[in-house]
Amino acid sequence: MMAVSHIVGSGSYLPERVVTNDELARMVDTSDSWIIERTGIRRRHIAAEGELTSDLAYRAALKALEDAEIEAADIDLIVLATATPDNTFPATAARVQAMLGMNKGAAFDLQAVCSGFVYALAVADNFIRMGQARTALVIGAETFSRILDWTDRSTCVLFGDGAGAVVLKAGETRSLNAAGRERGILSTHLHSDGKLYDLLHTDGGPSRSQTVGLVRMQGREVFRHAVVNLAAVVHEALTANGLTADDIDWLVPHQANKRIIDGTAKKLGLSPKQVVTTIAEHANTSAASLPLALDTAVRDGRIQPGHLILLEAMGGGMTWGASLVRW
Ligand code: ACO
Repeated sequence: MMAVSHIVGSGSYLPERVVTNDELARMVDTSDSWIIERTGIRRRHIAAEGELTSDLAYRAALKALEDAEIEAADIDLIVLATATPDNTFPATAARVQAMLGMNKGAAFDLQAVCSGFVYALAVADNFIRMGQARTALVIGAETFSRILDWTDRSTCVLFGDGAGAVVLKAGETRSLNAAGRERGILSTHLHSDGKLYDLLHTDGGPSRSQTVGLVRMQGREVFRHAVVNLAAVVHEALTANGLTADDIDWLVPHQANKRIIDGTAKKLGLSPKQVVTTIAEHANTSAASLPLALDTAVRDGRIQPGHLILLEAMGGGMTWGASLVRW
């Protein structure tokens, strides 16, 4: 019988230093009111000098392991989603593996920018379904502050640093036909369209220029594609499970822009009370934003056993995806 993945723990970490919109307004020509009105962002956390993506990932992972009551030695897979690895290589996941003292299995990075966490969740879920892993750590971690052009007001106000993680554990399914009634990850759905590569990219990279480059974005175009593609993939996830938007208890979206989140919720007919929105506190943390939001709603008690959770994200590539989880 094919295994099903259960999310058995979550954790998150934000760097200590908080940068408000007013502080940014002293660096570039912007204002607290413009940023709040257009994006919903009030502040972001920025990693300290020398604090790396692996450090953030490690702290989030420790909390997720503690929450799951699982020892690092029991983990046999780490999938770490990031667009801001410590080094070009090896994978940041390998560093985290060493920090955790994990002693078996595999660890690798996955790059799908802001969709990284839904991609990583899908990969780990498939390893578990196929019996190639029993206990997986899925991490989204970023230090986007290191690749921002701090003179470009159209991008530097949007992003922050952070990390989130979940622990997946294999369980047996009782019945594959009654998927909607099963606990665990019901399905994952991934997409990309490489023709949209230039809409959101860095203007450098190891192969292109021997530098990492800085974030460049056509904001309006990204916004337009996000609203259309997220609605489509959400519909796909619901249809695949024979469910409708009425069945959803919580929408946990990638935190890119409050207007994108509100637009998606409205299309689904969900009340704002059913949407987990954390963007005000940490801006867009790319691959970390979805697990940060998920962890917030688990810890404050909103997400309860039996609830149906819809996770969705969209990012550079362009990439996008969704997953339905019965808690
Ligand atoms: N402060 C003040 N003014 C600004 C700022 C700023 N920080 N940034 C841009 N502006 C100005 C522009 O220069 C422009 O001025 P102009 O009319 O004189 O040329 C004006 O504001 C309007 O600019 P637009 O880009 O049209 O503003 P828009 O309403 O589209 O908002 C934003 C911009 C917030 C970037 C929006 O397009 C957006 O959120 N797009 C999605 C981008 C996103 O979420 N990216 C995250 C990664 S991808 C993902 O996660 C889905």
